[in-house]
Amino acid sequence: MPAFTATAPGKIILFGEHAVVYGRPAIAAPVNQVRARAVVSADPLAPSGQVHVLAPDIGLDAILDELPADHPLKMALYLTLEELGLGRSPACTIRVTSTIPLAAGLGSGAAVSVAVIRAYTAFLGRHLDDGRISALAFEVEKLYHGTPSGVDNSVVTYGQPVYFQRDQPIEIFHVPNAFQIVIGDTSVASPTAFAVSDVRKGWQADGPRFENLFDAVGEIVQQARQAIEAGQAGLLGPLMDRNQELLEEIGVSSPELEWLVDAARAAGALGAKLSGGGRGGNMIALVEPGQAETVARALSASGATRTIETWIGKKP
Ligand code: PMV
Repeated sequence: MPAFTATAPGKIILFGEHAVVYGRPAIAAPVNQVRARAVVSADPLAPSGQVHVLAPDIGLDAILDELPADHPLKMALYLTLEELGLGRSPACTIRVTSTIPLAAGLGSGAAVSVAVIRAYTAFLGRHLDDGRISALAFEVEKLYHGTPSGVDNSVVTYGQPVYFQRDQPIEIFHVPNAFQIVIGDTSVASPTAFAVSDVRKGWQADGPRFENLFDAVGEIVQQARQAIEAGQAGLLGPLMDRNQELLEEIGVSSPELEWLVDAARAAGALGAKLSGGGRGGNMIALVEPGQAETVARALSASGATRTIETWIGKKP
């Protein structure tokens, strides 16, 4: 029996995190340098219906039925079976690996879900379109985030830059002039759910202030979209800086993130901000062609444990 493999990329949020949970738009893009991978193969000798799940990165080696009901892998697989109208799985082994750092704002949870759902669907000899795959991954995201906006599962499923707004059809983004981003990891693990829940507390305590902050973020996202579509990526630098200021006011930045943001700017980045849930995880910096290595080196010298150089749009 052949093995069925699927992969899904990591992602960064270029503009609009957190405000997107409250209905404002966001722009996100895949990061193909880091990926989650799922491989499903039949186990003809295993007891009927037994699904063996292996995720060596997190030390998981278990029988699916024995995992708790709210385990993300269990949920992804059960939801897929349900979506396909199948009662029971053929006996199989599912192996999940990922090079996307965990709890770092790079969408590792969504990428694992999408890779698993795709590989398992192919193993079952069926097809699900991207919209349905994204919707299933969204259900799993609720375990990680509580109240996810849906941006992570969308960008990871479509594997293209997206303009995302809750309850609106997903818009795949055209990037006429590709631009380069350097990602720097603070290595401070920060589960998105905590940051999202703290923002909710702030919003509940002072709704008008947070609504104003979210509106300001939403305007930046619109301007950024226009700049990208006009091929004027250079304009994005100041917009990133302004988005970072607003994220600081929203309360999701951290000294480690700001240290790296400042280091990137000092090394010549056109703009920089945290990306994703914040409090830790990764920051991103917009760089001019030829500047990526200098900025990456400055980030490493300032304590980034990992840097990734990536292109948004097709690398020239
Ligand atoms: O998964 P992360 O850390 O990239 O965060 C996703 C972005 C948030 O806006 C903070 C949450 C969401 O659901 O959109």
